[in-house]
Amino acid sequence: MRTVVCPGSFDPFTLGHLDVVKRAQQLADHVIVGVARNAGKSALFNAEQRVDFAQRTLQRAGLSAVEVRHVPGLLTEFCDEVGAKHIVKGLRNGADLDSELPMALMNRSISSVETLFILGEPSLSHIASSLVKDVARHGGEISNMVDVDVAHALYLALSEEQ
Ligand code: PNS
Repeated sequence: MRTVVCPGSFDPFTLGHLDVVKRAQQLADHVIVGVARNAGKSALFNAEQRVDFAQRTLQRAGLSAVEVRHVPGLLTEFCDEVGAKHIVKGLRNGADLDSELPMALMNRSISSVETLFILGEPSLSHIASSLVKDVARHGGEISNMVDVDVAHALYLALSEEQ
């Protein structure tokens, strides 16, 4: 398995995402984090910021070999462009599987790209970008859930929101 894509909306990239990317690195020669748009979610950060946060997190964690790219359209087209035959996604629980399964099946029906699921570290399974934003919105502690630069950017963005 040469190149795999770890896709997501990453709004923002968390330490849970980092854990999945580290595990994906053990399966593949090259891992690309694909920052895409989820039509079902409204993002706090634009694509450029989300790419930047993923890059900072990966760099601080010593994973500079991992590439971070914006996915402007269909994920399967992006996979074709970069020569990836596999998507790797992390699962925290059954609810994740319920939402991931239709996407994986759809992607396979419109292309030959297969999705592989990796189980994340259980001690990180409470971390979800949406919940991290909610905790930060109310001034809670998020330093053990996201990179330090991401935490600062979150507090700033959410303070400007009010
Ligand atoms: O982190 P998320 O929100 O679960 O990631 C979902 C994402 C962004 C990977 C998915 O919405 C996606 O692939 N978007 C790109 C457009 C696309 O290919 N849509 C068809 C998905 S079946």
